[in-house]
Amino acid sequence: MEGIDKMLERLDIGYIDLLLLHQQVGEYMGAWRDMEKAVAQGKVKTIGLSNFESERLEEVCEAAEVKPAVLQVECHPYFQQNELKKRLAPYGTVIEAWYPIGHGDADLINEPVFTKLAEKYEKTNVQIILRWHIQEGTIIFPKSTNPQHIKDNFDIFDFELTEEEMEQIRAVDKNVRFFTVPLEQQEIQFTAWAPED
Ligand SMILES: NC(=O)c1ccc[n+]([C@@H]2O[C@H](COP(=O)([O-])OP(=O)(O)OC[C@H]3O[C@@H](n4cnc5c(N)ncnc54)[C@H](OP(=O)(O)O)[C@@H]3O)[C@@H](O)[C@H]2O)c1
Repeated sequence: MEGIDKMLERLDIGYIDLLLLHQQVGEYMGAWRDMEKAVAQGKVKTIGLSNFESERLEEVCEAAEVKPAVLQVECHPYFQQNELKKRLAPYGTVIEAWYPIGHGDADLINEPVFTKLAEKYEKTNVQIILRWHIQEGTIIFPKSTNPQHIKDNFDIFDFELTEEEMEQIRAVDKNVRFFTVPLEQQEIQFTAWAPED
């Protein structure tokens, strides 16, 4: 709770729109309870989880009085997270993709299916990937430092992929992550971390 108050102070705003619990380590149930209290107190509007992919996901979701609005995890056409989507359905939780364009991986971006659809819709390959996410019901927040890319990444709402094209993109799934950190290492990182002062 103290951490939430410090965030509000640092951000210098009245409330936080969406607050995520970053990792499935440490006192995560206690943290979730405090996040629920923060919602009740109006300090936070919505709460969610990130990187909860073990059975700890169900543990929190079952016990939660306020169900997670989102689960932020790695998700892109090479790692589509279909099983996780099924596990989330009972709680009304949706996936928010990190690495939505595979951290900019060239092999992913240049998959022939994206090049073909980009030509058809007069869009870029990345816009096709982002549009696919949206039609899959996934929330995206692609990162870019390039002003043209930032504009392009918003410009994906004037066309629609057909169901057949969605299937063609689903077929490139390799069930392979770009980012892997063993859980033990995460535990070490996060138990070693302590808030300032
Ligand atoms: N919760 C977690 O544990 C977690 C873990 C990892 C990442 N994240 C977050 O997820 C977000 C996205 O991650 P990310 O930035 O690593 O991956 P990303 O959004 O999949 O990829 C970013 C890369 O794609 C390029 N790109 C963006 N738009 C483009 C476009 N229209 N055309 C061509 N290239 C484009 C960017 O280059 P340019 O700058 O040149 O456009 C950059 O190299 C970040 O905010 C990050 O903090 C969260």
